[in-house]
Amino acid sequence: MKNHFALIAGIAAAVVLLSGCTSRFSFSRNVTVNDSIDDLFASRRSVRSYDATKSISEEEVRTLLAASQQAPSWANRQPSRYYVAISPEKLAAVRECVGERNAQNVAGAPVLIVSTFVKGQSGFGRGVATNEIGDGWGAYDNGLANAYLILKARDMGFDTLIMGFRDSDKLRSILAIPDSEEVLAVIALGYRAQEPGTPNHLALDEIVKFY
Ligand SMILES: Cc1cc2nc3c(=O)[nH]c(=O)nc-3n(C[C@H](O)[C@H](O)[C@H](O)COP(=O)(O)O)c2cc1C
Repeated sequence: MKNHFALIAGIAAAVVLLSGCTSRFSFSRNVTVNDSIDDLFASRRSVRSYDATKSISEEEVRTLLAASQQAPSWANRQPSRYYVAISPEKLAAVRECVGERNAQNVAGAPVLIVSTFVKGQSGFGRGVATNEIGDGWGAYDNGLANAYLILKARDMGFDTLIMGFRDSDKLRSILAIPDSEEVLAVIALGYRAQEPGTPNHLALDEIVKFY
C-alpha cells in the first residue's frame, strides 16, 4: 500500500514537472529555448554565416510570408510584395546584387527574399499623399511586414540578414520587378553556421522621453 502511494505520488510529481516544462521548452516551435516573445527577440540576430548543407522548402517560405501578412499596414493597403530566389540560378543572380561583402556573408543561405512595396498606396488617398511622409509609409509598412517575417523565421529555427546594400536596378531586371514598386531590402534566409554577436543598444533613456 505504502509502495502504491509512493508510485502514485511519483507519477503525479513527474506530470507536474513535465507540464511545467512544456511552457519553457515548447514543442510546438523549433526554437525550443524560447518561452516568451522576449526570448524570441533576443535570439534573433543578424546572421552573416550560413550552413550551405541545409535547405528550406518553398512551403516553409510561404509560412513566413503568411506571417508577414499579419502585420498592420496603412488602411490595410498591404503594399508589400516579395520575390523569392530559391532556385540555384536565381540565388546566384540575386547574390550578385548585394555587394561583395554581403554576398560572401550570405553565400550559404538557401533563400534570398527581395522585398518591395507598391508606390502610391500607403499614405495616399485618391492618389494624393495624405501628409509629408508620402511613400515613406509604404516603406514603413514593408518594414513592419519584414519584422514579422524575420521573427517568424527565428521562431521556426531559421536565421536572417536584412540587406539594404543592394543594386535595385539589377534586381528589377533579374526578377521583373515593375516600376510601380520600390525595391527595399534583400533578406537572406537560412541556418546559422556561426553564433552571431549581440550588438550594443542605446540606453532606453536615450531614445525615449516621457511627458
Ligand atoms: C534596413 C536595414 C538594412 C541593413 N543592411 C545590412 C547590410 O546591407 N549588410 C549587413 O551586413 N547588415 C545589414 N543590416 C543589419 C544591421 O546591421 C543589424 O540589424 C544591426 O547591426 C543590429 O544587429 P542585429 O540585427 O543582430 O540586432 C541591415 C538592417 C536593416 C534593418
